[in-house]
Amino acid sequence: MSAIEIVDLAPSDFEHFVLTAHGFWGEAPEIGMEQVHHALRRAMLARLDGEDIGAAAVIDFPLTLPGGSRVAMDGVTWVGVAATARRRGALRAMMDRCLRSARDRDIPVLGLGASESSIYRRFGYGVASHIGSAAIDTAHAALRISFHDPGRLRFVPLHDAVPLWRDIESRQVDRTGGILRSADHWRVGIARNETPDGKIAPMTVVAHEDAAGVLDGFANYRVELRWADGLSDGIVHLTELTALNLDAHLALWQHVLEMDLIEHVEMWRFWLDDPLQQLVADPRRLRVSTRDDLHLRVVDVVALLSARRYSREDSLVIEVRDDACADVAGRYRVEGGLDGAIAARTNATADVVLDAAALGSMLLGDVSAAALQRADIVQEEREGAVRRASAMFSWSPRPWLNHMF
Ligand SMILES: CC(C)(COP(=O)(O)OP(=O)(O)OC[C@H]1O[C@@H](n2cnc3c(N)ncnc32)[C@H](O)[C@@H]1OP(=O)(O)O)[C@@H](O)C(=O)NCCC(=O)NCCS
Repeated sequence: MSAIEIVDLAPSDFEHFVLTAHGFWGEAPEIGMEQVHHALRRAMLARLDGEDIGAAAVIDFPLTLPGGSRVAMDGVTWVGVAATARRRGALRAMMDRCLRSARDRDIPVLGLGASESSIYRRFGYGVASHIGSAAIDTAHAALRISFHDPGRLRFVPLHDAVPLWRDIESRQVDRTGGILRSADHWRVGIARNETPDGKIAPMTVVAHEDAAGVLDGFANYRVELRWADGLSDGIVHLTELTALNLDAHLALWQHVLEMDLIEHVEMWRFWLDDPLQQLVADPRRLRVSTRDDLHLRVVDVVALLSARRYSREDSLVIEVRDDACADVAGRYRVEGGLDGAIAARTNATADVVLDAAALGSMLLGDVSAAALQRADIVQEEREGAVRRASAMFSWSPRPWLNHMF
């Protein structure tokens, strides 16, 4: 059988790429096509005997690590393989190209959201953060505190929203696991949400300002008005809620929870450390189901381990095994705490041994070394090292990817 060839596309071919990838998913080209290909940085097609059989693309998404520093991340997206050519290695060839491209361009980490959580571990990706789907009936959404907003809310026309979203997102430095979106990327979201989808209204944007008039949060949502026997039964589909402080956070939640004609609020990307969980009077009424979210593939261990901060001051030697990338494999000493960290390759004896995917899982502090050890994914070489690694790498609040790409 012929070999699969990976073809890197020039930006002028990105429109062709987007149409081809849509074909692989069996979907009609959608709204926002133009914005989609403007948001892509790199795109590739897998070719077999002259036929395009696979597609994958990369978007630049700076990623926030524990402690607030940001590192460049290749966000892998638009992955698809023709239904007629599956299980012939097209995905493997594209994942290999993505990894080598990141390594050659000094990008320390790749990230993606998986359509199925079973696919990517074999390529060295570990589940690094989790997210919730949340639903609450507004009749049971009272807060157990009385909250009076010292600031104010205002509606923002969609065509004015991009600079506002980007400004607030860039100031949210403590959002571990969050990404920064380009203006083009934000416009993809607008284009997709501008058109009414059945009975769901286009996206509404509400911004919050503090008492001094400084913007400190926004909520994006779509309203679905419904009626049953003459009674209102509306739903607010909350797409995103980003706030820089608790007042803004509560004011924005209160806005959606107290809206007239709305009986239910649903959020597909709910932060698992959202303070709302502690503040609703009847927390069981806030139904949250969790799933894996951001999968990370470490490429430059030294860059990543020295960029993040650690909850406990300590020093560890970590041996990383990596069948897919010999450049990643090796032993690393990391020494750090809340104020900074140093990481370097070492010949010293390992305290813990793990594979690249396990390190990806530990990077944002959402999955502990102890949990991985219990599953025999992390091995302890020095007594007590796993407990120390768990304390060192843990982080609060929990990571939260603000947008799935
Ligand atoms: C998922 C998809 C991209 C896989 O592409 P593919 O070219 O068939 O994959 P490959 O032949 O390169 O397989 C590589 C490995 O992944 C495994 N794999 C592929 N698809 C898988 C799936 N859906 N679930 C679990 N494992 C999967 C293969 O068994 C193979 O494993 P191995 O090499 O360890 O034995 C393709 O089936 C597809 O386009 N599906 C629909 C769209 C989609 O889900 N895209 C992913 C978006 S994140």
